[in-house]
Amino acid sequence: MALRGQEHAQPAGRGNVRTLYQACTHLGCTPNFCPKNFWFECPSHGSRYDRLGIKVESLRPAPRSLDRFWSEVSADGILTVDTGKISLGPLPVALGQPGLIAPTGCLS
Ligand code: FES
Repeated sequence: MALRGQEHAQPAGRGNVRTLYQACTHLGCTPNFCPKNFWFECPSHGSRYDRLGIKVESLRPAPRSLDRFWSEVSADGILTVDTGKISLGPLPVALGQPGLIAPTGCLS
């Protein structure tokens, strides 16, 4: 795996890889990865994001899902991430959407 900057304009997450910016979309704190439920949980005000960075509407104040960096996987498996190109995360979804279950995680 290589990490280097690129100047190409392509949608974030291209190549079936999602590269998340680990900064809470509420006030920018760092959501910690919780190995109990594989979610990202913000210790500041409790926003929670699933393993794909999706924010659940009812789980605290963040206004959207985690933002994403531009990324690409080449044919030979090289991952390129451009941390200078950020796409805003999508709007939160309701708990109970396919794949989203209530997390019992690391925050109390
Ligand atoms: S900074 Fe993450 S919930 Fe407030």
